Amino acid sequence: MSAGTPRSPKASPKGRRPFAPLPEWAGPATRLVHAGRRPDLNAGAVVPPLYQTSTFHFPEEHSESAAHGASYLYSRNGNPTVEGAEELLRELEGAEAARLFASGMGAISATLLSLLDSGEEVVAPAGIYGGTAGLLRQVLPRFGIKVREVSDDAAKAPEELFGVSTRLALLETPTNPVLRVHDLKRWAEAAHRHGALVVVDSTIASPVNQNPLALGADLVIHSATKYLGGHADLTAGAVIGPAELLERIDPHQTLGSPLDPFAAFLLHRSLKTLVLRVERSNANARKVVEALAEDPRVLKVHYPGRPSPEEERIAEGQMRGRGGMVSISLKGGASAADRLLGALRIFQVAPSFGGVESLVSLPRTTSHRHLTRADREAQGIDEGFVRLSVGIEEPDDLVRDLTEALARGA
Ligand SMILES: Cc1ncc(COP(=O)(O)O)c(C=O)c1O
Repeated sequence: MSAGTPRSPKASPKGRRPFAPLPEWAGPATRLVHAGRRPDLNAGAVVPPLYQTSTFHFPEEHSESAAHGASYLYSRNGNPTVEGAEELLRELEGAEAARLFASGMGAISATLLSLLDSGEEVVAPAGIYGGTAGLLRQVLPRFGIKVREVSDDAAKAPEELFGVSTRLALLETPTNPVLRVHDLKRWAEAAHRHGALVVVDSTIASPVNQNPLALGADLVIHSATKYLGGHADLTAGAVIGPAELLERIDPHQTLGSPLDPFAAFLLHRSLKTLVLRVERSNANARKVVEALAEDPRVLKVHYPGRPSPEEERIAEGQMRGRGGMVSISLKGGASAADRLLGALRIFQVAPSFGGVESLVSLPRTTSHRHLTRADREAQGIDEGFVRLSVGIEEPDDLVRDLTEALARGA
């Protein structure tokens, strides 16, 4: 270490003015870039500083009353970097409040464990993410919470599905990986008639393509690991909705899965480009769908709205774009699917989705490996089923990669 006089900080708090509040006439794209900014009175940084700290000192030493009045005390309960990202999420879903968790599963489990009591029932269409299915099947029943899983076809008539003890409906739309869509308005009407809440996992759509709260849902959940983070470099989850409900969901994070400030800092940076990234993925996925629908080796292309005119009508009514996820069933079955993965040169083989890079995976060996073949087939996942997450690369490159790999292997 070199000796010498320590340099005094260049910036002085004096003379720095807080940012002006955003004008009320600022439009959505402007809000998304600027919401959640915090004045940095020390150095004047344009990007909100990263408060990578677990605790905050009391305003007056050892003063309990000062501690109670302080805005931040302990990062599990609240942290300015995390709150900055939460502000953008509120903006994106047009909501009063948002809460970030360490993962999508952290967000889902905190929500269900906080809102349901022993003896109450949750109803959920079956085509849901494997981790959520595990929570419903293995964890909630141990606390006396009843779980009613219904088929995606039965989910078309939600009016039939609410009993006296049903308190909450958990929907994933579009579903993962078959990309079916559930009618959110119809579910919300049916649930509210029975005094139940509707919680929607909208991860696959992202807030750019779908806003469940505007369609009557009570809460929206995202695995922010996917489109919101968007660069495959963080794990996070969000619950967004009215303040009154958010206050009931683990207010002191006693379930212990708050988002770490560094992940929140990365997330905040990513959210500024969410609209650009998702619109590009939407457009790229459309091209991939068109090309694969023409390919003789492809039995079926799964994409929101494609299964039937009825689902097309629902998707049209509740989604602005159809998203970047595309699944295909190959005529050649499991071996053709395995060969396709081996032959792709741009799509990387990895289980997640929603990032800038295109990924490919086989639900039969990843998210749905715990199900029997018959159970998978009941959900529409046949042996030749391949899931694609279409990124933001050149659309022609992605189509060429897929068609060449199909020609070489499948
Ligand atoms: C639709 C959906 N919801 C929730 C999750 C869980 O999110 P996380 O992996 O961030 O815990 C996933 C994960 O893949 C998912 O696909």
